[in-house]
Amino acid sequence: MDPQTLTELLDVAVLDRLDRIDDLPGDELARSSALRKEGFSAEVTAALLTQAQLRREAGAKLGPFADDMLFTRDGLAQATRLPVAAHHARRLIGETADGETFRIADLGCGIGADSVAFAGMGAQVSAVDADEVTAAVAAFNLRHLPDAPVDHTRAEDVDLSDFDALWFDPARRTIGKSDRRGSTARITDPEAFSPSLSWVIDQAIRAKAAGVKLGPALDHGLVPEEAEAQWVSHNGEVVEVCLYFGAACQRPGRRALVMGERTLLVHEDDLPESDEEGIGTLGRYLLEPDGAIVRAGLVAALCAPLQARRVHPKIAYLTTDVEPSGPAAAGVTAYTVTDVLPAKIPSLRKELVSRGIGSVVVKKRGADIVPDQVRRQLKLPKGDKATLVFTRLGERHVVLLTQPV
Ligand SMILES: C[S@@+](CC[C@H](N)C(=O)[O-])C[C@H]1O[C@@H](n2cnc3c(N)ncnc32)[C@H](O)[C@@H]1O
Repeated sequence: MDPQTLTELLDVAVLDRLDRIDDLPGDELARSSALRKEGFSAEVTAALLTQAQLRREAGAKLGPFADDMLFTRDGLAQATRLPVAAHHARRLIGETADGETFRIADLGCGIGADSVAFAGMGAQVSAVDADEVTAAVAAFNLRHLPDAPVDHTRAEDVDLSDFDALWFDPARRTIGKSDRRGSTARITDPEAFSPSLSWVIDQAIRAKAAGVKLGPALDHGLVPEEAEAQWVSHNGEVVEVCLYFGAACQRPGRRALVMGERTLLVHEDDLPESDEEGIGTLGRYLLEPDGAIVRAGLVAALCAPLQARRVHPKIAYLTTDVEPSGPAAAGVTAYTVTDVLPAKIPSLRKELVSRGIGSVVVKKRGADIVPDQVRRQLKLPKGDKATLVFTRLGERHVVLLTQPV
């Protein structure tokens, strides 16, 4: 969105029309011509329809708040989901020694999702964004929160000495290089993040408390030893790794947080000294650990609480004879193993057909196959559903016929 379009969008009559957009007909073309007949220019009409679409998409991340917000496509793609933003706020916002309001800086606030949560916890938020339109959109989204002003400036130009906590969510996608569908490319070099990771970590180490949100593929070698690195999944999707420093660091080291219907926290101190016992001996159940636990390198920490063993030292599946229960069960998806089948497609097909299986979900770890290709090659007639898992038991390549528990 360019600054001119945003200025037009911020007109009271235009915003009012956006709030009532659902009274228009369903078809996009009809909606567009209805808005043009009401006197809106072609640019404003397009902006209204885009905002309506982005609000609908944003509902998944921001719930009912989305209906009262404005977005840029990039800003929405990078915004923190509200339950996760609330978690950041719980980790960062504390008491001040002098009883004054807690002050936090959001240094690259995007459309303002994290700032909404910080301000919601009663903090005084200073939000900044280097992009003019994004900063203006964030200011609009935070308009009901008087303690959360937004400045259009670079994080590197802010005096950071006076805050109780700093929050960084560096841009990790190319800016302004959107293709026609509005998508951007992921940046892999941490020094090309904006601001750069080394600058961010430098500031975070010196702060009273700090949090740094990064992509879950972060190289473990980049986690500073004074930080707690927490990989987070929400409703089964790995969304981030967050580095916490100073007062926000509860326990240095790697940690995984599974958020969803149930919550689980795993820390690297929970790893056993050896996870080699019983490796590759198949039990009644196959366990697929949550992605946050896998990314954090903490799969073996689930062995003791689930009475499980690894299928292979390097493969992130576990196996056990006991149906998972207790808190650690939140960290896995369990499958009952009904058979071990041959891997060659013709024999595999024959075995599946003889068992009345007609539709398969194909999963793999440690196996050189392409799940979609296998499904197509099997050409199964109609029948029951099953999950096929291509993996290894020790050195042996196997296909496990399973059913989700
Ligand atoms: C990942 S997004 C932040 C998303 C935000 N936490 C949210 O939940 O909505 C990163 C933002 O940083 C901004 N940015 C990039 N470089 C910056 C810099 N040097 N200083 C301040 N902001 C910057 C980008 O414009 C972008 O909006």
